[in-house]
Amino acid sequence: MRNLFADLSEIVFERESLADLTSYRVGGPARWLARPRSIDDLARVVHRCAREDVPVFTLGRGANLLVSDEGVDGMVIRLDAPVFNRVEWPTASNGGASVMAGGGTDMYRLVSESVRRGLAGLEGLGGIPGRLGGIVRMNAGGRWGQIADVVRDLTVVDPLGGIRRLSAAEAGFGYRRSNLGGMVVCQVRMELKREDPAAIRERFKVVWASKRRTQPMAELSAGCVFKNPPGGSAGLLIDRAGLKGHAVGGARVSELHANFIVVRPGTAADDIFTLIGRIRREVARRFGVELDLEIEVWGRRRVRAMEATV
Ligand code: EPU
Repeated sequence: MRNLFADLSEIVFERESLADLTSYRVGGPARWLARPRSIDDLARVVHRCAREDVPVFTLGRGANLLVSDEGVDGMVIRLDAPVFNRVEWPTASNGGASVMAGGGTDMYRLVSESVRRGLAGLEGLGGIPGRLGGIVRMNAGGRWGQIADVVRDLTVVDPLGGIRRLSAAEAGFGYRRSNLGGMVVCQVRMELKREDPAAIRERFKVVWASKRRTQPMAELSAGCVFKNPPGGSAGLLIDRAGLKGHAVGGARVSELHANFIVVRPGTAADDIFTLIGRIRREVARRFGVELDLEIEVWGRRRVRAMEATV
């Protein structure tokens, strides 16, 4: 096969392992992995992929992701260059509260730094692992808010490799969703509020303490596996179905929060898929509720995993 990316060899690598780049630490390699150094680099890679019909997958922190054991037959994009990790904070002197951050920015860093600077609006997202682009694409959040509450506009690379500016309205945010599926989020402008740093820190602490009490933060997981069904709670249903502690190989339903699957290092992605299928079947059988995945799945097992649910 002709090397489609020969002229981009400084930024495109072949058969790169993904397991160490995800929170579950499982899964096969990427056919190609790109590490663009600029937005133009990124646009070039995406444009080439569109022309050659190569599917594009954007990696954030891999904190909400399950990669199949077969790996990903496409281009995985990793935004680890400085341009995608830069944060421009407002200066206190002009009283502004608008923050511009790269799509690769680590969420823990962004949240704790905003709290430290007395900028309110992100403290409710404390404890959510991820990189900003991934957080925005899935509109991550929880009881204390969601990222859409503060996003004003974004710079993205669209599926054809065009660089575009989108407003928050154009991003189409909903519960754990947006219209940004095929886009690579390069930059995000957020509107925060200046407040007493002590008050923000207090709220941040409450969020963290609650997460530590109710979620298995110290174990390998990808957070909540299923979306909450309308008006209900996936964790509650899985718990009531008696599935806490249920295991397949090294994958197990967390005893602390039933919507988390925690894994032992070295677990196969297939074990996680099998466990997902069992949970869905059991919850459907007992409560007539079809749970939808909240985590993203990459690779060929996707079809079989979804089939296993009916
Ligand atoms: N519950 C149980 N057993 C369990 C888990 C939960 O009975 O094993 C009950 C709880 O007692 C509570 C209800 O289910 O009455 C809801 O649980 P919780 O308050 O933990 O919230 P959640 O709806 O399960 C959501 C988000 C979390 C986020 C938390 C807190 C979804 C799918 N999950 O969880 O997000 O951290 O609120 O804000 O929307 C994630 O997206 O990865 C994630 C963990």
